[in-house]
Amino acid sequence: MATWSAPGKVFLFGEHAVVYGKPAIAMAIKPRVFVTVRKSRNPTRPKSPYINECFRVMGVRGSVYVRSQLQSSSGLGSSAAVTVATLSAINDEFNLGYSREYIAETAFAIEKKVQKGRASPTDTYVSANGGMVLITGESKRRLPPENLHLVVGNTMVPHSTAKMVEQVANLRQHHPTIANPILDAIGELTLAAIREMSNPKELGQYMDMNHALLEALGVGHPASSRLVLAARASGAYGAKITGAGGGGSIIALCPRRAKNRVAGAIEACEGRAIITTIDTDGAREEKHD
Ligand code: PMV
Repeated sequence: MATWSAPGKVFLFGEHAVVYGKPAIAMAIKPRVFVTVRKSRNPTRPKSPYINECFRVMGVRGSVYVRSQLQSSSGLGSSAAVTVATLSAINDEFNLGYSREYIAETAFAIEKKVQKGRASPTDTYVSANGGMVLITGESKRRLPPENLHLVVGNTMVPHSTAKMVEQVANLRQHHPTIANPILDAIGELTLAAIREMSNPKELGQYMDMNHALLEALGVGHPASSRLVLAARASGAYGAKITGAGGGGSIIALCPRRAKNRVAGAIEACEGRAIITTIDTDGAREEKHD
């Protein structure tokens, strides 16, 4: 029996613009998905197309037990984490000897298949490797880890990444002279943020600007606006939508002392708050009997 876990992720900067080749920064966060795999001729498994695909691709049969600290459809990369953890546990339980790189690539291929072509390699890469990653087109570069104090606020409004990506594509088609400079500005903010990673006040201001630009692209939602404003009013350095928007989650960058207050303010606005920070581990073995 092998148990592996893999972390969720947030976009610190650059979502949507990354679809058009601009740079973005994603970071693994502490909440994880835990997956136990056991060799079995009569497998019992949760009804998940991601998990079924993992077994099909790896060519083995086994039972699965999943425990998740991540809500699905909340923009925190739970499907990528389930896929990475399942592949890693299969790899271990059946002694297949695949590398972390192979697991990340296979997880991306599975997400792409299950999501009918609509997946970005960001979630699976970050979940497999952990840490902070700069994504530009096909290239991914690991950034030095920063101990940022984050509060994630889940609006509890489920969103569709595919729908939001399509909405931005339409805006770009109908108003290219407006939408393209917004996407360019988001890319510039990402580059500016890399230089200020250890300066949370400045970084918070960049997050506020990134949020305004995402709203200008039309991916805001009353629920995310409420949480962002509540986080700022209760002492966050800055706050923004994270991921595709249209609901989903927000992140707030906080002084250490303000974390609980910010989390309380988010909960008071009917959001679900998670106090978290960077996860540098990526996929890891929890247990092997
Ligand atoms: O909502 P999420 O976590 O799936 O993030 C989507 C991020 C986008 O930039 C909007 C799309 C993408 O594939 O990068």
